[in-house]
Amino acid sequence: MNLPLYLDRALFVGLPYAAISVCLIVSLQRYGWRMFTYSSLSSQLLENRTHFWAMVPFHYGILAVLLGHLIGFSVPRAVLAWNGRPLRLYVLEAAALSFGVLALIGLAALINRRLTNAKMRAVTSAMDWLTFALLLFQAASGVYVAVFTPWGSTWYAAVVVPYLWSLFGLNPDAGVVTQLPLAAQLHIVNAFILIGLFPFTRLVHILVVPNPYLWRRPQIVRWYGSR
Ligand code: HEM
Repeated sequence: MNLPLYLDRALFVGLPYAAISVCLIVSLQRYGWRMFTYSSLSSQLLENRTHFWAMVPFHYGILAVLLGHLIGFSVPRAVLAWNGRPLRLYVLEAAALSFGVLALIGLAALINRRLTNAKMRAVTSAMDWLTFALLLFQAASGVYVAVFTPWGSTWYAAVVVPYLWSLFGLNPDAGVVTQLPLAAQLHIVNAFILIGLFPFTRLVHILVVPNPYLWRRPQIVRWYGSR
């Protein structure tokens, strides 16, 4: 879909650089100043009936999908070569779609758990709701794109990855990405919004894996004031 040039530049060049800068700077600052807020703020003690069936599918799904994006980003030529045979392309697409649907179902269950349980609602902040809304849009638009704009693994490697590398090379070229269907463009823009908000949310727990719990001495953490 064609947008005015200034909007393309703002969304596909300005936004990514702003989001990545905020993400890096605030993540480091938060780690340095408020290290113990780096937590997923587990809610298992408050509600443990639906916890497993929401949390586990969501995490398996999202981690597999993110790994797929990372592989495509790192070795796009190998992905294109793999997809050169139709059967291998179908297997890859079916696997990616399955994990995307798994993440989406798990996420819907996580949101439902927070909406329907009074204790969970009480510990859910405005930032949590915003995070869930953005994650839901990200997962739903990803599944939509996978179903209605086929062979995403190929056009991701051929079109989106060169754009991402152009950003990292400080020579941004959003040209072809701005010609993608609207759903794919929204999926990309929402991803950058999530990256920019990342250090302000509970998603920071992703950065503290593997966790030093495994080797450090036990310690007691007391919360006081706002987290
Ligand atoms: C190796 C990577 C990861 C590990 C080990 C991990 C671990 C965890 C743990 C232990 C919890 C708390 C569960 C509880 O309530 O007891 C959690 C919650 C959560 N994780 Fe992760 N996570 C990982 C990656 C991710 C990723 C990639 C995302 C999303 C992009 C994500 C999103 C969330 C969200 C939104 C919650 C809160 C769910 C809720 O309480 O309703 N995690 N994670």
